[in-house]
Amino acid sequence: MDALENIISRNSPRVLSEPVPSDEQMRLVYKAALRAPDHAWLRPSRFIEVKGDGIRKLSEIFSQFANDHIAGGDQQKVEKYKNAPFRAPMIIILISHITEHPKVPEIEQIMSTAAAAQNILLALSALKFGGMWRTGALALDEKISSYLGLQENEKVLGYLYVGTPEGSEKRIPELELSDFVTKWD
Ligand SMILES: Cc1cc2nc3c(=O)[nH]c(=O)nc-3n(C[C@H](O)[C@H](O)[C@H](O)COP(=O)(O)O)c2cc1C
Repeated sequence: MDALENIISRNSPRVLSEPVPSDEQMRLVYKAALRAPDHAWLRPSRFIEVKGDGIRKLSEIFSQFANDHIAGGDQQKVEKYKNAPFRAPMIIILISHITEHPKVPEIEQIMSTAAAAQNILLALSALKFGGMWRTGALALDEKISSYLGLQENEKVLGYLYVGTPEGSEKRIPELELSDFVTKWD
């Protein structure tokens, strides 16, 4: 697919099913991710690829976290978080491994991982798969890192839900470019 057409038509399908990309295809996806801009080449981005039995493991972790920090004893809420990972057959956990650096603050490292996430979404779209970035209470929270076995300097920026899009293609709204772009010339 034409590279620009792929960028312009990328979208986040809500319903994602099997099949998931092969290991060979995921190698290309991660290579794309690791070409995100990265100040001082600190390589902040890390990914955990979750599928198969891993989805059940993630579901248990979400359930435990919800029980400990979110639900306040409401078992229905715990169930909601427990079921969340089953919305897609593959999940990529987005992590930024923060390094102390005199010229590269934490926010720049986080932005680099965000750019890597967009590269993943674009690569998936080019391969005819879909991805949706989700956060909610299970991301951007210091407490979740230890539940996922991460170090203290590793931040969870979200979860990319991945699979084959189902249903009709999403209609992408036309935006008026002049609402967003100012030209100085
Ligand atoms: C950092 C980030 C976090 C997001 N978190 C959620 C989320 O938790 N739940 C959700 O429904 N959409 C979330 N979204 C939005 C979707 O990923 C998606 O971009 C949105 O539905 C618009 O669809 P589109 O990408 O097809 O334009 C998030 C987007 C970003 C960039």
